[in-house]
Amino acid sequence: MMYRLARTAIFQLDPEHAHDLAMKNFKRFTGTPLDIFYRQNLPPRPTQVMGLHFKNPVGLAAGLDKNGECIEAFGAMGFGFIEVGTVTPRPQDGNDKPRLFRVIPAEGIINRMGFNNHGVDALVENVKKAKYDGILGINIGKNKDTPLENGKDDYLICMDKVYDHAGYIAVNISSPNTPGLRSLQYGEALDDLLSSLKARQNELAESRGKYVPLALKIAPDMSEEELVQVADSLVRHGIDGVIATNTTLDRSLVEGMPHAHEAGGLSGRPVQNKSTEVIRRLHQELNGKLPIIGVGGIDSVMSAKEKMMAGAELVQVYSGFIYHGPRLVKDIVRNI
Ligand SMILES: Cc1cc2nc3c(=O)[nH]c(=O)nc-3n(C[C@H](O)[C@H](O)[C@H](O)COP(=O)(O)O)c2cc1C
Repeated sequence: MMYRLARTAIFQLDPEHAHDLAMKNFKRFTGTPLDIFYRQNLPPRPTQVMGLHFKNPVGLAAGLDKNGECIEAFGAMGFGFIEVGTVTPRPQDGNDKPRLFRVIPAEGIINRMGFNNHGVDALVENVKKAKYDGILGINIGKNKDTPLENGKDDYLICMDKVYDHAGYIAVNISSPNTPGLRSLQYGEALDDLLSSLKARQNELAESRGKYVPLALKIAPDMSEEELVQVADSLVRHGIDGVIATNTTLDRSLVEGMPHAHEAGGLSGRPVQNKSTEVIRRLHQELNGKLPIIGVGGIDSVMSAKEKMMAGAELVQVYSGFIYHGPRLVKDIVRNI
């Protein structure tokens, strides 16, 4: 009820302004009695995935807290895990504004943010300061001005810097808003990237005495054949998990709606079934060899259950959280 009222006010604002204002308030309220607006006590639903202990299987998806500035506030909402980032080696502004749009009739969001972030060093400083007793995922990417053929280096730079501070590392090669990025999902480019990341993970595990799992985040816009190839690469390279899915380029479910023609990735309810089908297909192909983190259009207990029935062991929310607030996390954790 409270969030429904707040949402009416928030939705009067431009989406990016609303996001920035909400984050500013989360920062201000953390550690004060005002965190009562979002603090929730949730029952434990412990689960073990990628060798990590999660207090519950509901996480915050990447992109909402790109710089790790509000980890404690999201922790107070009861998320079992929080994925910060995508972060790049160097700070970058992202695309020109406006770059974030609500597709309200479909409870969708279109974004072409373009990895706006303060850079990996700033993120690490924020993470070091945060007190959070859940699992922290750190999602890494490449700078826009790094040529695609050197993209691998950006992932390795980020990996080195975040390794000591991450519960797991998510490798994002599926944003539609960094030109060419999605080409890393296929064939030799994928094999080359995964083998380098795996080799570096083994070196770091040895030198740091701590194994940090690697999860690959993929797009929903893949053919059957491409999906089978990705599954095969993940298994061959010993990757620890897969996050399915990122946003879609498909506009068929929002045709004619406000902002439907904007360039970028579409998330929320319009991507729900598409993501679930990717998870189902991946699950058949992977046959339990590595776990799936399901994300895309989760907006209710039922849609979270659908992802789990399709084969996801953990779920994440972003757009559903914007439309339904912290209550969504509570409902899912209580009823899963
Ligand atoms: C505004 C916005 C920014 C996003 N930024 C990122 C990002 O930086 N990295 C990433 O891996 N995913 C990013 N995503 C994708 C989400 O993490 C998620 O995979 C996708 O939105 C589908 O989930 P949803 O339907 O619950 O939103 C972003 C999504 C939105 C809406």
